[in-house]
Amino acid sequence: MNKIEMFKPYVNERAIELVTQVLRSGYIGEGPRVKEFEQKMGLRVGSSFPVVVNSGTSALHLSVQLAGVKPGDEVITTAQTMLATTTAILMAGATPVYADVEYTTGNLSAEDISRHVTAKTRAILAVDWAGYPCDWDAILAVARKHNLIAIEDAAHALGATYKGRPVGSVAPITCFSFQAIKHLTTGDGGMICVSSAEDYERAAQLRWFGIDRYKRKPSVLGEPEWNVTELGYKYHMNDIAAAVGLGNLGDLDWILQRRHEIVAAYRAELESVPGVQLFERQQDRQSADWLFSIHVERREAFCQMMAAKDIMASVVHLRIDRNDLCGGKRDDLPELARFTGTHVSLPLHPNLSDGDVRRVIESIRGGW
Ligand SMILES: Cc1ncc(COP(=O)(O)O)c(C=O)c1O
Repeated sequence: MNKIEMFKPYVNERAIELVTQVLRSGYIGEGPRVKEFEQKMGLRVGSSFPVVVNSGTSALHLSVQLAGVKPGDEVITTAQTMLATTTAILMAGATPVYADVEYTTGNLSAEDISRHVTAKTRAILAVDWAGYPCDWDAILAVARKHNLIAIEDAAHALGATYKGRPVGSVAPITCFSFQAIKHLTTGDGGMICVSSAEDYERAAQLRWFGIDRYKRKPSVLGEPEWNVTELGYKYHMNDIAAAVGLGNLGDLDWILQRRHEIVAAYRAELESVPGVQLFERQQDRQSADWLFSIHVERREAFCQMMAAKDIMASVVHLRIDRNDLCGGKRDDLPELARFTGTHVSLPLHPNLSDGDVRRVIESIRGGW
């Protein structure tokens, strides 16, 4: 019997062809493929101002900087995420302040954010856990009330929608990841979607040392002219990565569809299993179904049972606030504490066969 993995990178034949073309072209840096990928991704997520970069982490770092976060400021964020969400805040010299999450989604609780607002708060950085959009209207209302910028870490949420709008066009700043096991991979890569031409210009400069490659004046001496006015980074995407993304993009609809089908089967068949609690689903939003997270009783026994059947199950990320780097021990996040004790995710990727999905379901229905 095959081992059923949690994740599997998806790379199609078209991606391989396009990468081969780039490798043979004699130009592998940031070039026409990056521009094409950026334009297509902007259309895909409903953003007029997409800027592709070399990772989701780079996108997050730029987002915090574009939000005007300075050393000494505070950013209200979630601990139920990967470390990158917080490292972006720390890289700007700011302090992450963790608000509680909703037990039924893993997303930041809009209600709890207000409790943490101080005179130093500049931004809110929320994650769409597992690809299920946060309650963005509520978060944006809190942001407006306190004059804060809201940033959406949509690393899990490419293809999700909120109230009919694609994620990418909901929050003023949205960050995506195209890392190996995401819906759409470029090997590693990311994208920041901003809301104004000014922020677009700035992001385009910050991703490459503070220079907009497309606006430099050519010079006969070989080094185009540019006056750098702000410290930038080496965060640009290259044409090899963009070619992988462009190839895979042709299958994104199918990838999402297959994920939705698997999740529909999991939800229908696991709903009534004793010891399993499904996450909440609201009619007004569509998850990107990057993870299928559930709450289970006796989680260790559950994971042992799955491992004995050669099926991976994983928490994927555990609360990050307990790391000394992030601030250490705190006890005032009761829903996060509950969440941390019971959540687990099941295998979910487009290469799972119907037989694999059945095996996962039957194993859980058999008890643990
Ligand atoms: C919620 C979240 N944010 C950010 C990132 C960072 O993305 P990347 O690996 O592309 O830097 C990840 C990575 O998995 C993530 O899960």
